[in-house]
Amino acid sequence: MAEAALRTQLCELAKSLFDRGYSVGTAGNVSVRLPDGYLMTPTNSCLGRLDPERISKLGPDWAHLSGDKPSKEVFLHRAVLDARPEAGAVVHLHSTHATAISCLAPEGGDAEIPPLTPYFVMRIGRRLPCVAYYRPGDAAMEPAVHAAARAAKALLLANHGPVVSGASLTEAVHAAEELEEAARLALVLRGVPGVRALNAAQVDDLLETFG
Ligand code: 13P
Repeated sequence: MAEAALRTQLCELAKSLFDRGYSVGTAGNVSVRLPDGYLMTPTNSCLGRLDPERISKLGPDWAHLSGDKPSKEVFLHRAVLDARPEAGAVVHLHSTHATAISCLAPEGGDAEIPPLTPYFVMRIGRRLPCVAYYRPGDAAMEPAVHAAARAAKALLLANHGPVVSGASLTEAVHAAEELEEAARLALVLRGVPGVRALNAAQVDDLLETFG
């Protein structure tokens, strides 16, 4: 997709996430890989009110080239896109239920979202690592995020929120939505007797078919 169309798509998808409450205020940020660098949402921007022409553009070395000042989470996005060469976009949200899980998951371990539904397995996969807490925008998080992103398409930042990659921007957004719904289901069903998750063979079958 040409850069101008990607800028428009980024603004439309970000607004759709904002309108449905997946981010509030100026929370969240999005990056997209381009042939000649990256697009990124500007720092302190509201995902519901982005302007295609003011989206930050960064070069292949992540230096700021044009548009507004990029998100403070540039290290986060760089770590994921470097770790996953097949990824074309990264979405970071503070969506409520995935963030709640990020407050429960062990730092440096895996979050326990059971494979309750096929689409969670198909869009997110087998693992959801939780990176230890860092201050938002702290460059020191980069090695830990890189390691987690090598192991999984999506990860949680402890006490902060989800970070989801996808082959394209739409795939990253869809996966972020799926993660939020899976987190919501996991919390709704927590401690409820008789909950049935998919079994290992069903998970393997999904990943072989759609993974
Ligand atoms: P930015 O406004 O710099 O993108 O930061 C928002 C955020 O979600 C921090 O994690």
